[in-house]
Amino acid sequence: MTSKLDRMKQLREQTLIGGGAERIAAQHKQGKLTARERIDLLLDEGSFVELDRYVEHQCDKFGMGSKKVPGDGVVTGHGTIDGRPLFVFSQDFTVWGGSLGAAHAQKICKVMDQALKVGVPVIGLNDSGGARIQEGVEALGGYADIFLRNTLASGVVPQISAIMGPCAGGAVYSPAITDFVAMVEGTSYMFVTGPNVVKTVTHEQVTSEDLGGASVHASKSGVAHFTAPTDAEALALLRRLFSFLPQNNREEPPRRTNGDEPDREAPELDTLVPENPNKPYDMHQVIRAIVDGGDFLEVHDKYAKNLIVGFARLDGRSIGIVANQPAHLAGVLDIDASLKGARFVRFCDCFNIPLVVFEDVPGFLPGVAQEHGGIIKHGAKLLYAFCEATVPKITVITRKAYGGAYDVMNSKHVRGDLNLAWPTAECAVMGAAGAVEIIFNRQIQAAADPKAEKDKLTAEYLERFANPYEAARRGFIDDVIEPRATRGRLAKALALLKTKRDDNPPRKHGNLPL
Ligand code: HXC
Repeated sequence: MTSKLDRMKQLREQTLIGGGAERIAAQHKQGKLTARERIDLLLDEGSFVELDRYVEHQCDKFGMGSKKVPGDGVVTGHGTIDGRPLFVFSQDFTVWGGSLGAAHAQKICKVMDQALKVGVPVIGLNDSGGARIQEGVEALGGYADIFLRNTLASGVVPQISAIMGPCAGGAVYSPAITDFVAMVEGTSYMFVTGPNVVKTVTHEQVTSEDLGGASVHASKSGVAHFTAPTDAEALALLRRLFSFLPQNNREEPPRRTNGDEPDREAPELDTLVPENPNKPYDMHQVIRAIVDGGDFLEVHDKYAKNLIVGFARLDGRSIGIVANQPAHLAGVLDIDASLKGARFVRFCDCFNIPLVVFEDVPGFLPGVAQEHGGIIKHGAKLLYAFCEATVPKITVITRKAYGGAYDVMNSKHVRGDLNLAWPTAECAVMGAAGAVEIIFNRQIQAAADPKAEKDKLTAEYLERFANPYEAARRGFIDDVIEPRATRGRLAKALALLKTKRDDNPPRKHGNLPL
């Protein structure tokens, strides 16, 4: 027995070294951690339970028959974060560049299948040269097996990807289907075709970093929701993100109070919105003043900054915040903001996270580029997402709620549960200057003093529409509140709406305007 135990231990030891000391040193030299070191930082200490450590590839082509590495370049298993279970896979770049063959894919699929059955999230740590070239179509099949599982698990268990090295070719589509992508700055990149192919096909010369580095995907493409300077910081960020999420679509996110009184007033909000409606202010200040401890995990903070989305807690309850940002492009809704908002709203709706909207929006962005780029279909995505969402939905209009954007931003008409306004709110079809020019054009031209006439009509329009009461009189706004009392009102509403149940008609799935 002792000898069998010794053999087991010896084999187990072998599984820990991946591609060997030299390759581990090379990994460290680049500032990257190994697959196992990453898992250790991600999970609660000592909680990791490894599966499939002895799995090897079955490929005998290109001399691979004699080259086997136990585990086949990916470490898989389960563990806990803050005591809550999850499945994890972590690709090992020291083993054939973390490349994915049939056995490697089979290991990932196994943990995904189990995660779906058990109803717990999956976190994937990606560091891979893509399809293992020696395995040919088996590697491609392996990817497709993963894509299918990503799709089937979507909306059932949260799926999070960290990109901690290369992620190229079709391999990018697994993280892309998952709910959140975090990239490490300087050492990770994602692209469908690399710089060499780009040069051949389009004659563009570009580095890997400029083509698909963390900064590009966080600010331009929107593929990355988060970036972090190091592996360790990326993993800490994933732990933080995880804390806001439920285990699956049938559970609520964990509640965590931090002593911040739910009815704490925020007097600074009473004077935050400038008198001049054209002057910006930072919506982050509103969010931080209201949420528990000012703690806000912003998602997509470098992309479409005119819309802020992210997670916070109110009286310990996880909430998803969607807020126009008057300090960036006046908070206008454009294509990128619509896409960003729609994806976030749908995530929250999948996973029982109440939505809290702070609204100050002058409308959709006009222009040829926006129209030709499809602002109609993209704006419709945000509208669709709010319409279909059945989680508790609360809106606070801080200032402008103009035009179609009034409808879109979780208005009463699209099943907002509680629609509040500050006294500074303005609900109108459009801003005063534009509106008066359209409806009173003849009257202004015919006047003895057109400018005086226009000023008079503008003042009348402002008096009539630049307030929340026209909407409140119709029940489109439930109450007009002191800004300082917003936190208390939201906390009460969230407590009440905890038992909210709402359904959409039965169907296979809706047809989101893609
Ligand atoms: C097999 C691979 C590999 C791969 C890397 N390696 N990528 N082995 N299949 N795809 C091996 C290398 O041979 C090397 O082995 C070791 O991993 C480390 O690679 P290096 O090139 O030495 O490392 P580095 O210089 O850091 O470059 C990393 C890299 C480069 C940029 C990822 O290896 C690379 O370009 N690889 C190929 C990327 C690619 O085109 N993949 C296919 C994408 S298409 P030794 O033994 O020498 O240490 C795809 C299709 C998916 O993935 C489709 C899904 C639908």
